[in-house]
Amino acid sequence: MRYAICYVSTAKADLEKPEVENLLDYTSNFNNSHDIRGVLLYSEGNFFQILEGDKKFVLELFDQIQKDNRHHNIIQVLGKDLKQGAFDGFKAEIVTSRNKYDYELVKEYMEQVEGLDPQTQQTVKRILEVFIDTR
Ligand SMILES: Cc1cc2nc3c(=O)[nH]c(=O)nc-3n(C[C@H](O)[C@H](O)[C@H](O)COP(=O)(O)O)c2cc1C
Repeated sequence: MRYAICYVSTAKADLEKPEVENLLDYTSNFNNSHDIRGVLLYSEGNFFQILEGDKKFVLELFDQIQKDNRHHNIIQVLGKDLKQGAFDGFKAEIVTSRNKYDYELVKEYMEQVEGLDPQTQQTVKRILEVFIDTR
């Protein structure tokens, strides 16, 4: 069974940019080699993540992520069984004031969500829009 989780969280106050970059690199390498799909975005002290993969594996990974002291205030907005996988691969990026208006990039994030059922898609898209502040 495929499963999807979406959450937002607050990064540790003193998390430096190189540490964020390391985390994003590690995460995309690990996830892409373990058939975990979705996105991990960092923007001005916050994380937004969608994880999709084998249910047991995703739940175990999320348990581990929740214990990670590099972030807190984890608010889960989605935890759902999926009939089929919704995402193409895993993307991890820092959203900056420079690239947040990059239409192609935003479109790519939105396309990631399009395999979800319409209602879930709307919820996730709305949160993603607020997160990257493109409205
Ligand atoms: C916001 C955030 C998201 C993370 N997402 C993932 C992830 O998707 N996949 C992953 O393997 N590790 C992720 N991690 C890192 C894990 O919490 C953990 O450090 C990693 O699995 C290595 O665990 P280990 O140090 O016990 O081997 C994330 C950490 C944070 C703070």
